[in-house]
This record gives sequence, C-alpha cells and structure tokens, in this order.
Amino acid sequence: MTKNWVIAIDGYSSTGKSSISKVIAKRLGLIHMDTGALYRGITFYGLSHCQNADDSIDLQQLIDDLPNINLVFEKKNDELQLFLNGTNIDKEIRQPQVSANVSQVAKLPEVRAFLLDTQRNIAKTGGVIMDGRDIGTVVLPNADFKFFLTASTDERAKRRHLELLGFGENISIEEVKQNLIERDKIDSEREIAPLRQADDAILIDNSDLTKEQTIELMLSYIK
Ligand code: DC
Repeated sequence: MTKNWVIAIDGYSSTGKSSISKVIAKRLGLIHMDTGALYRGITFYGLSHCQNADDSIDLQQLIDDLPNINLVFEKKNDELQLFLNGTNIDKEIRQPQVSANVSQVAKLPEVRAFLLDTQRNIAKTGGVIMDGRDIGTVVLPNADFKFFLTASTDERAKRRHLELLGFGENISIEEVKQNLIERDKIDSEREIAPLRQADDAILIDNSDLTKEQTIELMLSYIK
C-alpha cells in the first residue's frame, strides 16, 4: 500500500539514518532523499574549486560560487544519485576529506538557504522520506512522521569505520570517532538550523539495535 506520506528522519552522524531510510522508502513505496549528500556535494565542489593554500576551503569564494553549482538527484536503479554540474559524485562525497570539512560548509547561512528550496521541492508532492539534521525542525516541519535517531559515540564510530573500510579507505577508528565528535559539536552548536530533536519527533536510540530492529520499530509507529 503506497501512501503519500512525508517522513522526516534526523539525528546524529552514523546512526544509520540514510541506510534505514532507504529500506523504509522501498517498503512503503516512497522516494528517499539523503540531504547530507547535498551538503557533501557543495563541500566537494569547495575542495575541488575553492581551495586555500593549506587545502582548507575558501568559504567566501565558495559562497560567491554558489550560483555556479548545480546539484541534482537523478533516479538510477530505483535510487537517487547525486550529480554536480552533470557529473555523478555519489562516491566522491563519501571521502574522509569531505567528511572532515562538511560541517564548516553546512554552517554557512548562504549554503543552507541555497539548499532549502531543492529539499522542499522534492517533498512538495509527498511520498518522500528525507533524512538529515533539520528536516523535522526546519525543512519539513509539517511532516506526517518525524524520527530522531541517536546511538553511543563508540557504536557510531564502529559502524562508520566499517563503512569506510568497505570503501577501501585506510583510517583508524580513533580518527573516525574524533571526526564524528567534532561534526556533532559543530552541527549542534551552529546558529542556523542546528541539529536538534523536533518537539514532536519520536526518539530512537539504536545503540543496541540492529538495522533491521530499528526499521521494524520505526515501521511499527508508521503503520
Ligand atoms: O548525514 P551526513 O553525515 O552525510 O551529513 C553531512 C553533514 O551535512 C553533517 O555534518 C551535517 C550536514 N547536514 C546538515 O547540516 N543538515 C542536513 N539536513 C543534512 C546534513
């Protein structure tokens, strides 16, 4: 049974938001949109086109360059893949260098405003599950269902480390953990649209739950 639901999933990094959303989307016949990918796409652009001599991103140049950035999701094999100015960047946006810089970029009001319409337009017709940090609070405050996912830092670092090893990245678990802590801090403390549980969101701590158990729990609220 397909309904035109709008579902918002927010939460900390590496709580499984995207992979869980993907499965729920398939089961309920919804489109899944990973909004973190958009912030990662802009960060990837910054690292490729607006680098300072020390390899950091020249944030002012990136802001000035926003009109030259065209980010679109295209449906491939039933999933949305991200294209930056015509090039598929689905793999590139998962690189550790992007993860290390993305929170600085996501903090910029100009970047958040730039991406707001893209996100809302996709949800206009309903039938969507969107995951991010501010979906239930800012992007889709009227969503039919809102969830907020959390898990212990150690568990999240373990999951992310495994994922990166799968991508062939050679990185220590300690480095992954530090990156998570730093990102959560910047995401939670930024002035605009900080990472925060919406008052009407259902809180799920999945430290001791498998992905499948988390999905079943969430579906039990939706059905
Ligand atoms: O979910 P993710 O790790 O791919 O997100 C990457 C970064 O983007 C994360 O550090 C915070 C930011 N982000 C955000 O600020 N708002 C969103 N709706 C989604 C992601």
